[in-house]
Amino acid sequence: ASAIPKVHPNCNARTPPYEKLQKNYETVRRVLGSGNSLTLAEKIVYSHLENPEATLSGKDTSSIRGNAYLKLKVDRVAMQDASAQMALLQFMSCGLPTTAVPASIHCDHMIVGEKGADVDLPESIKGNKEIFDFLESAATKYGIEFWAPGSGIIHQIVLENYSAPGLMMLGTDSHTPNGGGLGAICIGVGGADAVDALVDAPWELKAPKILGVRLEGKLNGWATPKDVILNLAGQLTVRGGTGYIVEYHGEGVQSLSCTGMATICNMGAEIGATTSLFPFTPSMSRYLQATGRGPIAEKATAAGDFLSADSKAEYDKLITINLSELEPHINGPFTPDLSTPLSKFKDAITDNGWPTDLSAGLIGSCTNSSYQDMTRVESIVNQAREAGLKPKVDFFVTPGSEQIRATLERDRTLDVLESAGGVILANACGPCIGQWKRTDGVKKGDSNAILTSFNRNFRARNDGNPDTMNFLASPEIVTAMVYSGKMDFDPTVDSIQTPSGSNFKFSPPEGEELPQNGFEAGRSTFFPAKATPNPQTEVVVSPSSTRLAVLEPFPPFPKTELSDLRVLVKVRGKCTTDHISAAGKWLAYKGHLENISNNTLIGALNAETDAVNTVVDFDGSKTSIPDLARRWKEKGVGWLVVAEWNYGEGSAREHAALQPRYLGGSIVLAKSFARIHETNLKKQGLVPLTFVNESDYDLIDPRDQVTTVGLHDMLSNGGQGTVQLEIVKEKTGEKKLIQTAHTFSKDQAEWVLAGSALNLLAKMAKA
Ligand code: F3S
Repeated sequence: ASAIPKVHPNCNARTPPYEKLQKNYETVRRVLGSGNSLTLAEKIVYSHLENPEATLSGKDTSSIRGNAYLKLKVDRVAMQDASAQMALLQFMSCGLPTTAVPASIHCDHMIVGEKGADVDLPESIKGNKEIFDFLESAATKYGIEFWAPGSGIIHQIVLENYSAPGLMMLGTDSHTPNGGGLGAICIGVGGADAVDALVDAPWELKAPKILGVRLEGKLNGWATPKDVILNLAGQLTVRGGTGYIVEYHGEGVQSLSCTGMATICNMGAEIGATTSLFPFTPSMSRYLQATGRGPIAEKATAAGDFLSADSKAEYDKLITINLSELEPHINGPFTPDLSTPLSKFKDAITDNGWPTDLSAGLIGSCTNSSYQDMTRVESIVNQAREAGLKPKVDFFVTPGSEQIRATLERDRTLDVLESAGGVILANACGPCIGQWKRTDGVKKGDSNAILTSFNRNFRARNDGNPDTMNFLASPEIVTAMVYSGKMDFDPTVDSIQTPSGSNFKFSPPEGEELPQNGFEAGRSTFFPAKATPNPQTEVVVSPSSTRLAVLEPFPPFPKTELSDLRVLVKVRGKCTTDHISAAGKWLAYKGHLENISNNTLIGALNAETDAVNTVVDFDGSKTSIPDLARRWKEKGVGWLVVAEWNYGEGSAREHAALQPRYLGGSIVLAKSFARIHETNLKKQGLVPLTFVNESDYDLIDPRDQVTTVGLHDMLSNGGQGTVQLEIVKEKTGEKKLIQTAHTFSKDQAEWVLAGSALNLLAKMAKA
């Protein structure tokens, strides 16, 4: 163990390219003219444009936001172990010797939380050896920094090492915006988007609108940064941030710690925001210095107005939160936007019939495991210990990284938590991503309530039990409530009876923003970062593996129209990326396209059979959707999917596009698409089309024969032109013509013609 050096040896390599960004920023200001005041988000995003001059000329900020497509050159990529597999398999097929921008891999999602770090970590490493070996060998070969199992959770490590004011980073995880706590634009994406950045192709983003959150006053007592975002989620709902970057500003910002701001940005994902960020503050500077990056703080200080919004910046929406009046909140169950102020939570329990008993408390994770969080928790535990109290229910602690764990160990905070019965889990996602094996007797189907300081609380997310009600709160509130074992206990006003019979009431928690003696690096064997590419390294993918398989490129688009396609399934109602590519046990096959394809569309409701995952073949036999797709693929029958509104909503999960393509699909015809999925389909070489007349949905049925009219011309003309579909009814032989619409840009048409965006990238890379 050793202390983090004053200036980390990698500090220089991890400094954002400030000179280049400042130069671009000057161009942005010149092109937009003095009449345009800019938000911080716009300054950073536009300064990452591949060609700011061409993109912004003749426009003003209002015509850009929400309209323009931006081609961006990002500074860095971070990938977690589950999503990195497909990202790397795709990158490998481009044939490049190294990544174009610095990148890192983090082994965190595949580690269970059960008995504690010492037992869980070695077992998880054993169980996932093949995947970790693959990731490590790919990291060595391509010069990607590799954070081995036990080193910590991606977002915490990014905050400690990579995020910096003005940086633009893509991460293959939805909570990547955590890095906004250090004034960076960090966006969660799928693997194919990450590959754009890794091969130096510009990454396309529709210019987000900007949602301003003005913070006034100062947090006090029990209120924490977590309560800012729990409150905001209640105001905005899970969709309220869609299409927006959330930009915090106002005097209240100055009193927040850097890690507190990271918590707020982390959970911006819960309101659907593209990302969230804060302006550069003295607390960011302190955090950079404490993590061995003082020189970055100096450069950020010298960057002047680049790292804060113009005083006259305008926001598309504005919300004000007074921190002085903010009280703790508890959000849930089952959705992060069901927000209840603590003072009203007792009534909410009665009104909703929620359990009054608490069954477990879990703190930490990528969201809330900072030094400040944990020392404030320690102060609660110390108070309880002095009163002779012990936790009434299981209490788990997940440190976000080895650095924070080792520092808390040195400063005896972990001792305090453990002596109170807390179980210290591995520095990994564990219970936050369903890797929590409960040993408290609660079985699947048992209704019970848990409190966590994590960020998400979808049904079954933590323990796989759909009847576990997961409520979100600050780590301080979770910890205090563990001592009463009751959901209707309000630690800010209620008392607990001590063993000696007196009444004990908690005082508000107190903690330290940063460790007085600096951070500890911890067990260095846990993170051998290998930053120098070694082309000789063999990337380990066993041909007999069931979990990993090298990707074969998809064939290019034929030089003709598509004829004699058949309708595989006509989907009725909601069809999210979960319906198209389910998670859960299928997570194990994320690196094996053939095997994971067995879950393709298994959640989709077939309008013909009125049953989920049940389709009918030409001979009248009923089968599953993936099975029919495979049968048709074998016979050379091309196919399409017909669907209703917002097809592919939910996430950037690229498997939802990769799998139908792999199984021989070529078109999805829907009433409308979720934007990210529509782009993902095009990236994988599929053609998303929408009905011009939605009622035409009724004209087309499973197994009908479909031939495109004008599709090849439209693609060859860079996305110009219309496409019709000629339908021959399977039952009557009758012919019909359906008008469709599309949103193809020139680049996207080229992706499809090449067979996939990746094929095009590979071609460009070889040229
Ligand atoms: Fe991991 Fe949960 Fe964070 S899965 S990355 S700890 S949201």
